[in-house]
Amino acid sequence: MQQHDSTPPPRLIALGQRYWLPVYKPRELVLDHGKGARVWDMEGRDYVDFGAGIAVNALGHQDPDLLAALTTQAHKLWHASNVFYTEPPLRLAEELVDASGFAERVFLCNSGAEANEAAIKLVRKWAAAQGRAPDRRVIVTFKGSFHGRTLATVTATAQPKYQAGYEPLPEGFRYLDFNDAAVLEAAFAAGDIAAVMLEPVQGEGGVLPAAPGFLQRVRELCDAHGALLVLDEIQCGMGRTGTLFAHVQDGVKPDIVTLAKALGCGFPIGAMLAGPKVAEVMQYGAHGTTFGGNPMAAAVARAALRKLASPELLANVAVQAQALRDGLAAINAELHLFDEVRGRGLMIGAALAEAHRGKAGEVLDHAAAHGLLLLQAGPDVLRFVPPLTISTDELAEGLERLRAALAAFAAA
Ligand SMILES: Cc1ncc(COP(=O)(O)O)c(C=O)c1O
Repeated sequence: MQQHDSTPPPRLIALGQRYWLPVYKPRELVLDHGKGARVWDMEGRDYVDFGAGIAVNALGHQDPDLLAALTTQAHKLWHASNVFYTEPPLRLAEELVDASGFAERVFLCNSGAEANEAAIKLVRKWAAAQGRAPDRRVIVTFKGSFHGRTLATVTATAQPKYQAGYEPLPEGFRYLDFNDAAVLEAAFAAGDIAAVMLEPVQGEGGVLPAAPGFLQRVRELCDAHGALLVLDEIQCGMGRTGTLFAHVQDGVKPDIVTLAKALGCGFPIGAMLAGPKVAEVMQYGAHGTTFGGNPMAAAVARAALRKLASPELLANVAVQAQALRDGLAAINAELHLFDEVRGRGLMIGAALAEAHRGKAGEVLDHAAAHGLLLLQAGPDVLRFVPPLTISTDELAEGLERLRAALAAFAAA
């Protein structure tokens, strides 16, 4: 068991309750260290990790190549700002462009919200450069989406619960039903849409994939009406759905893609990738960040990108995704708790049946008590986003713990 300092976990939790802005409600345990798809708390209890820090730790915990990249860079240079060049972000940008198959330039930042903020600003600058009046620079997003917590990205997030109380919100967003191409087509008639922004698989909104053919139709409509296609792959990108970029499976080429989460596998970094229509729009002084593309973050992301793009890793996603679906089906055959299991690759949602709606949080409590770290996507959906490196044994053990947790939930 790992040694820890003498402060007992309940006292540490009390610090969070006393000093943190109370915007979170973490489970009452204090995690200490991890290895692979397993994490230990300060009292030495182990958990199978089906949440990966909200789809971040795609290579699990303590991946040796990430550790080596981080420590090597830590002994060289931590930070330089973007007024000087350093090698890691230069190489990372080239590697992201090469891997993307569509992008020409990259803006590196620190988080998903910042990547989307950059995308929103780029759309607006592009529209301005086209001579479009401000009221003709509308960005369409979809109900159930999640794009971040800054004022612009929370406005792009078409879920009222995240926006309430933050009015006045920035103008120029319109919310449509996800997966309804006819509604989008009708909306274009107004002639004021500059971009459509969407997650190929909605994450926070309930793990809802774009319907077959939907992205292609969105692309066609954007092309027909001179609008940009912006894809938020912050949660579903970086191998999560079985390909490095999720949209490859939809057969479309976007104009802008945003990444974060698994790009740094736990070291904060985000990126906005810009295709040919928009790559030259922003010039000197148009945007910036102190930390974005920090050499530490970029060094880790380079190592992560190499591994997440590898055929072996993507093959493991396919194998373990099937095992997870099979396991969920077997559990459901016994306990009848889910209406639907959906998603792509290792981004899977189990929608609770009507009698259990609103109780995803309770399931998560039972999961933690049974040694499983699990997430929800709203009150009705259990979200499974384990490390993409999860082994057959780790997955089987996680499923066993899930079955026990769900049985306890059902009996409660
Ligand atoms: C699809 C998507 N976009 C954007 C974000 C915001 O990312 P961050 O929390 O790093 O700002 C998230 C975070 O959950 C996300 O899932």
